[in-house]
Amino acid sequence: DRRVTVRDLAAAKDRGEKWPMLTAYDAMTARVFDAAGVPVLLVGDSAAMVVYGYDSTLPVTVADLLPLTAAVVRGSRRALVVADLPFASYQASPSQALATAARFLKEAGAHAVKLEGGRRVLPQVELLVSAGVPVMGHLGLTPQSVNAFGGYRVQGRGQSGDELMADAKDLERAGAFAVVLECVPAELAERVTASLSIPTVGIGAGPATDAQVLVWQDMMGLTRDPARFVKTYADLDAELTRAAHSFAADVASGAFPGPEHGYR
Ligand code: KIV
Ligand code: NA
Repeated sequence: DRRVTVRDLAAAKDRGEKWPMLTAYDAMTARVFDAAGVPVLLVGDSAAMVVYGYDSTLPVTVADLLPLTAAVVRGSRRALVVADLPFASYQASPSQALATAARFLKEAGAHAVKLEGGRRVLPQVELLVSAGVPVMGHLGLTPQSVNAFGGYRVQGRGQSGDELMADAKDLERAGAFAVVLECVPAELAERVTASLSIPTVGIGAGPATDAQVLVWQDMMGLTRDPARFVKTYADLDAELTRAAHSFAADVASGAFPGPEHGYR
């Protein structure tokens, strides 16, 4: 069974089929989500928070994300694996963007990259696309710009909605295969989705986008105080806590290990 491709995602939009995207940062969760049929796995720079314990995405580096990306590629069989380009690894110039993207494709086996921004990164998108690197755009609340935004807040209200629409159209024209819309009004995401021929991937962008993405630790109940746009599908915090307590109690009481866990 072959990998999902960017052409499959374009065809899904033409057929009006919606699809899920999940983040993954290691081989085992990649295997699980892949086997569950999730067609696109994103090795997000959200790894800064959920893997490395930073409080924003800014500190994470290419060196931090390359091994996680390689693990997700090795753990999956069908999914298209998208590597997030970290802060300051692509903004300086198109050639910087290509050099960084090349590392994710050559050293980690990623199939596509994602970068944040609209018109300000069009030369980067154009060079990557001309080099054969599929590019996913990311507009709205772009967390690498949190300091410029003055916090994590909804983007694209009022006037700035028109700018976001223009950015989305420019990304499509530059050859992006999809665009993430993060934390924007549902009505704006609906208009952008209707105006583009490439798929939109929403997170906190309402129900109209062609795809939906969540950070897996958010939807599985590991993140404290997840954002309003997160739906919780599992309570792994409670389950892991229960299991850890239970293991500790068994060790203290001598109930573990039993004879069946040992060798004679
Ligand atoms: O880093 C990430 O997880 C992301 C998604 C939330 C789109 O960029
Ligand atoms: Na990201």
